[in-house]
Amino acid sequence: MTSIAVVVGDGIGQEVIPVAQDVLSLLHPEYEFYPVEIGYGKWKKTGVACTPDDIVLLRDADAIIFGAVTTPPAADYRSVVLEIRKELDLYANLRPIKGDGVDIMIVRENTEGLYSGIEWQEDDRASTLRVITRKGSERIARAACRIARERGNHLTIGNKANVIKSDAFFRDICIKTAEEEGVPYTTAFIDALTLDVLMHPERYDVIVTTNIFGDILSDAAAYLVGGLGMLPSANIGDSHALFEPVHGSAPDIAGKGIANPVAAIRSAAMLLSHLGDIPGATLIEEAIRLTAEAGITTPDTGGKATTKEAGAAVIDALLRITEDSKHR
Ligand code: NAD
Ligand code: IPM
Ligand code: MN
Repeated sequence: MTSIAVVVGDGIGQEVIPVAQDVLSLLHPEYEFYPVEIGYGKWKKTGVACTPDDIVLLRDADAIIFGAVTTPPAADYRSVVLEIRKELDLYANLRPIKGDGVDIMIVRENTEGLYSGIEWQEDDRASTLRVITRKGSERIARAACRIARERGNHLTIGNKANVIKSDAFFRDICIKTAEEEGVPYTTAFIDALTLDVLMHPERYDVIVTTNIFGDILSDAAAYLVGGLGMLPSANIGDSHALFEPVHGSAPDIAGKGIANPVAAIRSAAMLLSHLGDIPGATLIEEAIRLTAEAGITTPDTGGKATTKEAGAAVIDALLRITEDSKHR
């Protein structure tokens, strides 16, 4: 029995994840779904955003579908999604940017760098320790090379080695790994790279980079494919996998029923690929394409549909495609 932990989380996570779950259960009625309550909402009710028992529930799942969690601007509150990525050692954050003339995979290191969580404050100074390890760099570089080989076989190593020594360390480990793996590579400074990705996306295949650079680059690259409502992601480790939209809880539109469910539905497609159902993932992408072609999109991408209408249209398209293929 395949079990899927469902974390809707906060804000629009609660609106888009039920749509993603509907899509998954349509294609896999045999999956067992169980909810895990995590996030700021839970913290407000109970004083804890994510308990050790919640982590056990996540560990027990074959895969996790995750909405988003709100991080309030409180000094003592650390984002639970970071805690989960660390706890489950989900070291590879895969963020595909796919659309007309664009097919890039951002491979973001997901457990260290500026997100080490080692930080302290004195009266007139606040510091965060940026930790880059050989192990952490090598495993993300290997993952990126593996992905590059399955795709266009080119790796871009995004870095800021010109000013940050820990980035020169990261870049050099990536270069050595790419050479060992026989994957052609180029290196690029992350600031110029971000602009070039926006101006010439066709030049890029797989981009590997450190934690915060990958975070910023992926939100910027969303511009190429219609914005944050379109971008899915996979957080992969050696034993666990979590799938979530790249976007957050979007408090500005939460509760209005207009959030774009495509990023969440695509995250469900990535979940299926991970569990071995590549045809299922392809069907979902095709259903999303047909729905957009029919003009059924949410306001962020220029349409008038609500989250529920857009989700229902994708499900209708899926039903049509699967019926068609049965009759063929
Ligand atoms: P955000 O991604 O939530 O929103 C940025 C902008 O994009 C907003 O204007 C929002 O309305 C829009 N947007 C995002 N997703 C959309 C969708 N599906 N459909 C339509 N419009 C969409 O980023 P933010 O505003 O910087 O962060 C809000 C909260 O979310 C913060 O507390 C932040 O910490 C959290 N966050 C959580 C995650 C996560 O859990 N993985 C990721 C990012 C941000
Ligand atoms: C993301 C988010 C998170 C991150 C935040 C909410 C901690 O922005 O998943 O991209 O920075 O990784
Ligand atoms: Mn982000």
